Amino acid sequence: MGDIYESVMELAKRRGFVWPTSECYGAVAGFIDYGPLGAMMKRKVEDLWRDFYVIREGYYEIECPTVGAEAIYIASGHVKGFADKMCQCPHCREYLRADHIAEAHGKANAAVLSAPELSAFLRLLPCPACEGELGDIEVFDFNLMFETQIGPGSQRKGYLRPETAQGIFADFNRLVRFYRNKLPFGAVQIGKSYRNEISPRQGMIRLREFTQAEAEIFVHPEHKEHPNFALYTDYEMPLLGIVQQQTSAPPLRISMKNAVSRGLVANEYVAYYLALTHELLVCAGVREEKLRFRQHLPDERAHYAEDCWDAEIFSERFGWVETVGIADRTDYDLRAHAAHSGDSFTVFIPFDTVRYERKRRIIPDMGVLGPRYRGKAKQISEALAAADPGEDGVEISVDGERFFIARDLYREVEEDVEIRGIDVRPHVIEPSYGIDRMMYAIFEHRYDEEMVEGEIRKVLRLPPRIAPVQAAVFPLMNRDGLDEIALSITQSLVEQGILAQYDDSGAIGRRYRRQDEIGTPFAITVDYDTLEDSTVTIRDRDSMNQVRIAKNDVPETLRLLINGTLNFDLLKK
Ligand code: ATP
Ligand code: GLY
Repeated sequence: MGDIYESVMELAKRRGFVWPTSECYGAVAGFIDYGPLGAMMKRKVEDLWRDFYVIREGYYEIECPTVGAEAIYIASGHVKGFADKMCQCPHCREYLRADHIAEAHGKANAAVLSAPELSAFLRLLPCPACEGELGDIEVFDFNLMFETQIGPGSQRKGYLRPETAQGIFADFNRLVRFYRNKLPFGAVQIGKSYRNEISPRQGMIRLREFTQAEAEIFVHPEHKEHPNFALYTDYEMPLLGIVQQQTSAPPLRISMKNAVSRGLVANEYVAYYLALTHELLVCAGVREEKLRFRQHLPDERAHYAEDCWDAEIFSERFGWVETVGIADRTDYDLRAHAAHSGDSFTVFIPFDTVRYERKRRIIPDMGVLGPRYRGKAKQISEALAAADPGEDGVEISVDGERFFIARDLYREVEEDVEIRGIDVRPHVIEPSYGIDRMMYAIFEHRYDEEMVEGEIRKVLRLPPRIAPVQAAVFPLMNRDGLDEIALSITQSLVEQGILAQYDDSGAIGRRYRRQDEIGTPFAITVDYDTLEDSTVTIRDRDSMNQVRIAKNDVPETLRLLINGTLNFDLLKK
C-alpha cells in the first residue's frame, strides 16, 4: 500500500465521500464538502453518537444559532483569549502557526510558550512553506473567531460560534426548569463550529468550518459519582497520565475503578466519559490499538479545569490526533455567564428536611423614614434590610445617592429563619467530539488493499452501522426475470429502512469491487438457482464468503447482520 492518506483521499473524492469545496472557483483551504456517500456516513456517525448520549444517557439535544451575539463570547472569554500564536515568513509571506513549527522541531507542548519564547525558538528554523530561515521573527496572537455584523448598519457585532458549548451554557436557566431543578442533567448539541485556523493544511483534521458533538453535563459540585458508574468500573483502556508522560512511560492499561481510586482520573464522571468515549469510538470503527487517552499536563490544562483528557487517535499521516476532549470544567462557564448577564445560573436544591438558621433581621422604622425620605423611603428601607449595620448605623446607597441611617431609625432582631434549600452552581463535565476528525480516522483505519486473483481489491471495512450503503442487490443477468426479483428484494430492504443499492451493470466481480470500495458490508445476488429454489447468495464484504439463504429471509437477516445481533459466520452453519 502506498501513502495511505493519498489512497484514502483519492478514494474519498472519486467515490463521493469528501471533496474540496466549490472547486470550480478554486478550493478554499479549511473547508470541505461531504459528497453523497460522505454526508450519509457522517449522519450515521452522528446518529451513533446520539444513541450513546441522547438515548442511553438521556441528555436531550438542543439546537442553537451558529451566529452568537458578542456578549456571549465576551462572557465566555473567547473575545479576549481564543487565540493561537502566529508569525509570518519574511521570505514567502505565508502566515504560520508558530507553536506547530516549534512542535515539528521537537519542542513538546509548545502552545504554552509565550510569544517571545516562541520567537527565540523559531529563529534558526526553516519556514515549512518555503524553507527559508525564519530569523528574527515576531510572534503574535491571532484570534480564531470569525466576526460578523448582525443586521444592517453594523449596529451589533456577532461571531460565528467557535464551539457549540456556549449555546448550551447560555440556555442554562431554561434547561434547569426543563429538567425540573434536579441535578445531574445534561444537554447536547451537534452542529457546525467555526475557527479561522491560521494554516489549515491537514485536510479533514484542521478545518475552518467543522462539526462538533458536545455534551454539557451539569453535576452537583460535591457529588461527582456517576449514577451508572458500575457500567464501566471494570472497563480497561490505555491511559497516558501526567506521570507516564513526564517519565516517558507507556500508557497504563487500567480499569476505570482503579483509575479513580488511585487518583489518576479526578472523579467518576470524567472516568465514565473516558470509557464511554472509548466504547463509542471503537463502535464507530476506530481501531482500538490506535486509540489512547492522554491527560493534559498541568501547564497545558485550563486554569479552571479540575481534570482534562484528550482521546487521541493515531494516523499514519498526522501522528496522534486529538479527536475528543473530556474535561471537568468546574463552575467556570456558569460563573462567567452569571457575572456578565446578571442571571443566577444556579439550581435550587431543597434540603430533605427544613432547616432553621438564627439570623439577624433589620426592621426599618417607617414612621420616621417615610416622612423623612418620602419617594425614596421604600428603596431606602429595602437597602437597609439587606445591609450589615455597624454600631452607630449604616451607610447605604440608592440610585447612586448615599444616605447614613442612624441606629435609632431601625430595630435589629434575632430570629430563626426557615431555610428550605440552597442555591448550587453546578460543575460541568464536557465531552467534546470533532466529528470530521472521527470521520478521517475511520477512513484511514478502515481502508485496506489486498491482492485478489491478481488484482488489487480496495476495501473500506466500515462497521455495518455506519456504512453509507448497507446492502447491494445484483441480478446475475439483466434478463430472465432475475432483474425483477432483484428489484423486488431491493424494495423489501428499503421498506425495512435499510439503504440498499440495486446494480445491474457490468461483470459481477466489478460490481462487488465497486461496493467493497464504498464499504457496503453485504451483497445479495440473484442467479438462476433463485428461479428454482427461491434462494439467493449473500456475500460478506470482509471475508468475501457467500452463503445461500431463502429470498424471503433477506430483509430480516440483513437487519440482524447490520445491527450486530447476527454474525455472518453463524449464518454459514
Ligand atoms: P487543536 O489543538 O487540534 O487545535 P483544540 O484543542 O483546539 O484542538 P478543542 O477546542 O478541544 O480542540 O475542540 C474540541 C474538538 O473539536 C477537538 O477534539 C477536535 O476533534 C475538534 N476540532 C477542534 N478544532 C478543529 C478544527 N479546526 N477542525 C476540525 N476539528 C476540530
Ligand atoms: N467546548 C470545548 C472546545 O470546543 O474547546
